[in-house]
Amino acid sequence: MTEIIAMINQKGGVGKTTTATNVAACLAALSKRTLLIDADPQGNSTSGLGISKQLLKSSFYDFMFSDMPLEQVVMETPVPDLFILPSNSDSLTIGRELWQKENGETYFKRLLQTELKKPVNNYDYIIIDSPPNLEMMVINIMAAANRIIIPTQPEYYGLEGLADLIETYKRIRETINPSLSILGVLITMHVSTNNLSKEVTQNLRQNMGSLIFDTVIPKNVKLAEAPSHCQPIIMYDPKCPGSVSYQLVTREILARTAK
Ligand SMILES: Nc1ncnc2c1ncn2[C@@H]1O[C@H](COP(=O)(O)OP(=O)(O)O)[C@@H](O)[C@H]1O
Ligand SMILES: [Mg+2]
Repeated sequence: MTEIIAMINQKGGVGKTTTATNVAACLAALSKRTLLIDADPQGNSTSGLGISKQLLKSSFYDFMFSDMPLEQVVMETPVPDLFILPSNSDSLTIGRELWQKENGETYFKRLLQTELKKPVNNYDYIIIDSPPNLEMMVINIMAAANRIIIPTQPEYYGLEGLADLIETYKRIRETINPSLSILGVLITMHVSTNNLSKEVTQNLRQNMGSLIFDTVIPKNVKLAEAPSHCQPIIMYDPKCPGSVSYQLVTREILARTAK
């Protein structure tokens, strides 16, 4: 069965896209056939891998509502074994259109499951990059996924948002997706010389225990530069601290999803 892992956090700027792109690339580099679904109208995962949002022939929107088969919208990336379902601002109306569908909360799940039955769409991992809210599209993503990863910055406001997110997660488990689980909370943009970073990280480990990944992603400017060079960090600067951390957390993800 394909592991479907979604990056979820209603806050923007916490590292969802950076984590989605880089974990997907690390999985592919380990020969796991991986599909990155860019479900954010901002299309940062798409442009970060060098795909022009303006020149897309078809996008996530067309997969959702134009009856286009998954394999026709999926594109290759600079990384072998990594494929992307690209997105752009066409996806802005998806949430509104989902409200008009019967059983709209599980529309994406049903569509994706049908497509994944075809041998051509045979992926080991699907990684979903989500928009920064907990609205209809994100509910659909949490309905379709097996697992969520919660990237969070070690700051006070980050902790506040986490409680709301976990409430939404519980509601979804109780209603539309009982098999959903939290694969882990990933601390991003950690600064080891910053007391707040250290305190919040310690606090999270005390309260959430093994739910927090052992690996912490450091603040590393190379991670912010890589998208403008259209490359994941393992290609742009394979040995920098950000790259090493994403490779380590990918190993943890593999261990946590081992069957
Ligand atoms: N570990 C990191 N170190 C330095 N910059 C980072 C790191 N992670 C993300 N960034 C930068 O921070 C910004 C927000 O990250 P992003 O992944 O786009 O967050 P989100 O998808 O949650 O909005 C981006 O400019 C990104 O390049
Ligand atoms: Mg993003």
